[in-house]
Amino acid sequence: MRSIDEITITDAALDQMSTTTNPRLKEIMEVAVRHLHAFAREASLTPEEWLAGISFVTAVGQACTPYRQEFILLSDTLGLSTLVNCLHDKRSIENGTKTSLLGPFYRQDAPQFNLGDCIGSDPGGQEIGVYGRITDIAGKPIPHASIQIWQTDDDGMYDLQKQDPSMMDFRGCFNADAEGGFHIRTVRPLGYLIPLDGPVGDMIRAQRRHGFRPAHIHFLIGAPGYRELVTALYVNPDSHMDSDVVFGSTASLVVETRTDDSNSPFPGLPTIHFDFSLAKAAVEDTSGRVGADPAQILARSH
Ligand code: BEZ
Ligand code: FE
Repeated sequence: MRSIDEITITDAALDQMSTTTNPRLKEIMEVAVRHLHAFAREASLTPEEWLAGISFVTAVGQACTPYRQEFILLSDTLGLSTLVNCLHDKRSIENGTKTSLLGPFYRQDAPQFNLGDCIGSDPGGQEIGVYGRITDIAGKPIPHASIQIWQTDDDGMYDLQKQDPSMMDFRGCFNADAEGGFHIRTVRPLGYLIPLDGPVGDMIRAQRRHGFRPAHIHFLIGAPGYRELVTALYVNPDSHMDSDVVFGSTASLVVETRTDDSNSPFPGLPTIHFDFSLAKAAVEDTSGRVGADPAQILARSH
């Protein structure tokens, strides 16, 4: 009979789990348990602290609904989602446009638009244009690539945060033209506070963090034979550009609007120009979505 103490408990747990048949599940669980035990030892976790952690994770689960994913928010605010994105980019066989957060406000089945359309029902006075090209990493156009785009409205709110969250607004699907070109009208996005009315908000306040994301527009771009790209453009000027509460903003994705761009398809309108490059897909490539429509995550868990 082995003696269990604060060190031998780790091997005891790993031994019991060693019969796991799925090799990748076995590997992930072994690493998770080793690090979890090392964390408890290093922090010298007390029973009260352990229980506070259990209560917190319980509250995070209870805050999840078909329209809200508090666990993704937790992962985002701990930097885990961005870390997983960086690892995903590193596995790519080519270096395309950098990945950024999908976030908790992505939704499946956004409406289809024609190039040049505005994705918002009421753009107010803050309309802007976004245009560019979808190419491979050598700059060769990718014809008819699919482009999904979503963002906050001119009040800085996503449709999912509104009275009737089943309504879709300020999101849409487009197809690039035969030369990979796209041009889209929308409103200037605003920086906004992530949802702070749940347990993740309690954590952010306890850490004295500001809770803001810099202004951004989300993109999900795909084409056969290429790695799906989940990214976002971060629109300067924004005082939180360098302190995004979810660590999504990064130098290569920061853009500005210009009114003096003679190539803009929207003369006179403040316009963002950005060309996206997609890496070729490798056989072993899996989805690049660190997240999903909250309703689908809930459906998968039942
Ligand atoms: C967003 O980009 O919409 C977002 C990402 C992470 C947390 C909250 C919001
Ligand atoms: Fe966002």
